[in-house]
Amino acid sequence: MLPRVIIHTAVSADGRIDGFTPDLGTFYGLVATWKEDVTLAGSDTLLAAAQADAPATEEPLPAPDPGDTRPLLAIVDSRGRVHTHAALLAAGYWRQTIALCSQTTPARHMAYLAKAGIPALVAGQKQVDLKAALAQLAAQYGARVVRVESGGVLSGVLLRAGLVSEVSVLVHPVLVGGSSARSFYRAADLGAADSPIAARLISAESVGAGIVWLRYALG
Ligand SMILES: NC(=O)c1ccc[n+]([C@@H]2O[C@H](COP(=O)([O-])OP(=O)(O)OC[C@H]3O[C@@H](n4cnc5c(N)ncnc54)[C@H](OP(=O)(O)O)[C@@H]3O)[C@@H](O)[C@H]2O)c1
Repeated sequence: MLPRVIIHTAVSADGRIDGFTPDLGTFYGLVATWKEDVTLAGSDTLLAAAQADAPATEEPLPAPDPGDTRPLLAIVDSRGRVHTHAALLAAGYWRQTIALCSQTTPARHMAYLAKAGIPALVAGQKQVDLKAALAQLAAQYGARVVRVESGGVLSGVLLRAGLVSEVSVLVHPVLVGGSSARSFYRAADLGAADSPIAARLISAESVGAGIVWLRYALG
């Protein structure tokens, strides 16, 4: 059984995910909609986040309280670049972090994870096999709902693999422009025989300060 996967993202009115300041209060206020069991984060997103400058620590992290109902944070990190699990936990939103690794994740990083008591799920040869990792999260951690916290690359891989159930887009009243393709769905251009993913509108709602919240079901 695979979990339901939801991409919740903030975009400008011209479809970019960068070059503007999202209304984080509104963005995270809506996250409660899905009651996620797991937040699935891309390594580049976390390396760009506030905690990225926190010092790495190999001190064992506290084991989660069995009664703690906060979500898990699963980090797609085959290259072993995220060393800020302690700082991410200290943010208070998650009960535990989990590293999603592959067969080629550096041994040094696997040793860091083991020393810090951070669970590692290994799936895939080079990059993380996301379908297998989602299946492991469901089987080992009971994950039924996964919310993706990422830029366009991880979301792009999940969308092309047909693993996403819902896309939630918070359209901000701002136009960024530019020539780089920074949308929340980054992937190779469609071939002549390929089709775009059909999306069914679930709801369209004005959520204040000129922001429109669009929810689409996929599949
Ligand atoms: N506007 C918004 O709502 C929003 C939300 C979040 C982030 N952002 C912004 O987005 C930017 C980061 O986005 P990004 O697109 O560069 O990075 P990203 O979405 O974090 O994507 C990179 C992740 O995708 C994984 N990945 C790439 N190809 C893969 C494949 N074929 N199979 C499996 N996993 C694969 C990488 O894994 P490995 O590490 O294992 O290679 C990495 O974890 C930041 O600037 C951040 O601030 C915006």
